[in-house]
Amino acid sequence: MADSWSSSWDVHLDWHPGSGRQGLADALRRAIREGRLSPGAVVPSTRALAKDLGVARGTVTRVYADLTAEGYLRTSQGAPTRVAAVTPAAPAKEGPRAAPWVPKLRWDLYPGRPDLSSFPRDAWISATRRVLQSSPASVFDYGDVRGPAVLREALARYLSRSRGVLAEPERIVVCGGFSHALTVLAHVLPGELAFEDPSLPEFRDLAARCGMRVTGVPVDEAGLRVSELDSPTVVVTPAHQYPLGTTLAPERRTALARWATEGGLVIEDDYDGEFRFDRQPVGALQALSPERIVYTGTVSKTLAPAVRIGWLVLPRALVEPARAALATTGWRPPVLDHLVLAEMLNSGAYDRHVRQRRIGYRNRRDRLLTILPEDFRPVGISAGLHLLLMLPAGVREDEVVRAATRESVAVDFLGRHWIAEGDHPQGLVLGYATPAEHAFGPAIDALMRALTP
Ligand SMILES: Cc1ncc(COP(=O)(O)O)c(C=O)c1O
Repeated sequence: MADSWSSSWDVHLDWHPGSGRQGLADALRRAIREGRLSPGAVVPSTRALAKDLGVARGTVTRVYADLTAEGYLRTSQGAPTRVAAVTPAAPAKEGPRAAPWVPKLRWDLYPGRPDLSSFPRDAWISATRRVLQSSPASVFDYGDVRGPAVLREALARYLSRSRGVLAEPERIVVCGGFSHALTVLAHVLPGELAFEDPSLPEFRDLAARCGMRVTGVPVDEAGLRVSELDSPTVVVTPAHQYPLGTTLAPERRTALARWATEGGLVIEDDYDGEFRFDRQPVGALQALSPERIVYTGTVSKTLAPAVRIGWLVLPRALVEPARAALATTGWRPPVLDHLVLAEMLNSGAYDRHVRQRRIGYRNRRDRLLTILPEDFRPVGISAGLHLLLMLPAGVREDEVVRAATRESVAVDFLGRHWIAEGDHPQGLVLGYATPAEHAFGPAIDALMRALTP
């Protein structure tokens, strides 16, 4: 196994994506000179490294050729490329260097992002080509503020098929992700908004900056305590509560739908509903009361946050106010990206990618669960891209976060998510999807060192 990709390449490259071929060559030379890549170590294939770093394969091939010529690498026919046994005595003359990008921490288990190296580049490129080859010139015009009809139709089919959403195209407004959806809703809803306690403070702050009065509603093992709601509108994460990871229990779903039907308004944040591992998928809450529940979704976890596409499936009465809010706040949809996403949805490429990622993330979750120390209790593990790790009695979050930082592992902690003050349980929020495939093993090994110092 010494030659395998996973065991050979647990090395960090100080490399800035903008620094090009020269920057990548410099980073590899430094890694070899500083001993992070030891003599004889197998380096990843050009295809694998290019995929992980998000560069063209040709770039990596040329860098390997340069470094072989300089004596840093050794290649032989039919065998993997290795670090040379003896590295050059004098450093090779390096060209002007781009400023090195030094991430604060080497291993990224901070929740919130998928594995960016798994972005379906080929599918995106093929869909882009098909869109450009088949579209009339009119698609280059300013588009419908709600997003092109072809995307709203594709989303309606996808959401009703995959998430059980009651999603006619006329109810759908495409926007720039959940954060954007929240700012749009802040323009059209009454001025008070309840969030789950705990929940992501960034979204609460965003709502507050949009002028909303923000309150909290407690969450327990069964999810939101519906009986404690006293706000006109509430934001919930029923499929996979963020950050606790619980699923809203059936009796609470019914109670919340009833609360909505009786006059409340629910904003359903279905941020990772596609990723359910152990049980039957939990369908969207929205179908229980489509005129009182706003469904929101995003590609930030399925594709990548950089795509900036999300959607609102709205009660009919809110469609025109939302459209007007978008128009008056200067939003003009990125029509070409919308058409590409529609093409991926219609061709099945999006589903294929989600299915593949689901398997990949479930494997990672399983790997993580098998190595966690016994006295740490993982919670919310049946779905999503993160889990909550409850700490043993007497162990504090700040101590563990400090230990993780010493091991160069980025993690989040439960404490910052609470709204009400109090003596809360201590836990870490771990995003196991984020590292690139080759970095996952070293990342969780480093985490284990932090948990069991
Ligand atoms: C709870 C929750 N909702 C929604 C999102 C997605 O936000 P956006 O679509 O703005 O990227 C995230 C991303 O981290 C999240 O954690």
